[in-house]
Amino acid sequence: MLKIGVFDSGLGGLTVVQSLAKYVKGAQIFYIADTKNAPYGEKTSQQILQFSLDIAAYFIQKHHIDALIVACNTATSAAIQTLRERYPQLIIIGTEPGVKPAIEQTLTGKIGVLATPATLKGEKYQQLASVLATEKDVTLYEQACPGLVEQIEKGEIDTPKTKKMLEQWLKPMRENDVDSIVLGCTHYPLVGNVIESIMQREINLIHTGDAIARHLLYLAHKKGHENKGKLDIMLYYTEDINQTIVRMLLKNITKIDAIEIGKQKTKG
Ligand code: DGL
Repeated sequence: MLKIGVFDSGLGGLTVVQSLAKYVKGAQIFYIADTKNAPYGEKTSQQILQFSLDIAAYFIQKHHIDALIVACNTATSAAIQTLRERYPQLIIIGTEPGVKPAIEQTLTGKIGVLATPATLKGEKYQQLASVLATEKDVTLYEQACPGLVEQIEKGEIDTPKTKKMLEQWLKPMRENDVDSIVLGCTHYPLVGNVIESIMQREINLIHTGDAIARHLLYLAHKKGHENKGKLDIMLYYTEDINQTIVRMLLKNITKIDAIEIGKQKTKG
């Protein structure tokens, strides 16, 4: 059995687990929604690094994982390098805004990028965007979306408030012939339909869950994983989580439970 630890600040990383569930067999997925510390995107990179290290240590000690998937763009930006240095024996895969596929696929050369404030400010994204943008003549319309993760966590997927926030952020993209939008936060596929309806045109929404799942299989195969048998999904949260949305996203969850990590207190 391949043991995979996956984490995010909340529901968002479940969009990556949905992709894992399509491809991965003979494995146990342990998912942590760190709702106690959400949203990550408005914390300092030092705080986000600490949350990530605590979760990785928990997965290793408690579940003896073989692979760690950072199903969060914000935590990837703040912590992936330190995680890789600290745990060289682990398969470690992060999540990065899909700017590269967007640049390959755009026809108008106008690309929107939605992400958390921390991801867009992070050195990792800044480097990625500046290197890629020199490869092709493209314009990136970058937009931080403070507050959107909280709306999604509350289950406010298409309420008037969420729509109003998105309308304001998407206005420059709608007015400037953007044909591809990078969902640079794993929560944002949950508002994909709202984004499409506001854009009022066919739009290529890019997120990288499937690419992560395929990459995991490639790396796990090299370590002898046969990808046969059943898949168990265990979901843990550090504070309350919207279980209706959880069950809407994933039908086959083996277990769902509250846990305590580091000095955090359990609730639920
Ligand atoms: N889902 C996370 C990401 O991909 C962000 C969540 C947050 O701000 O807590 O960036």
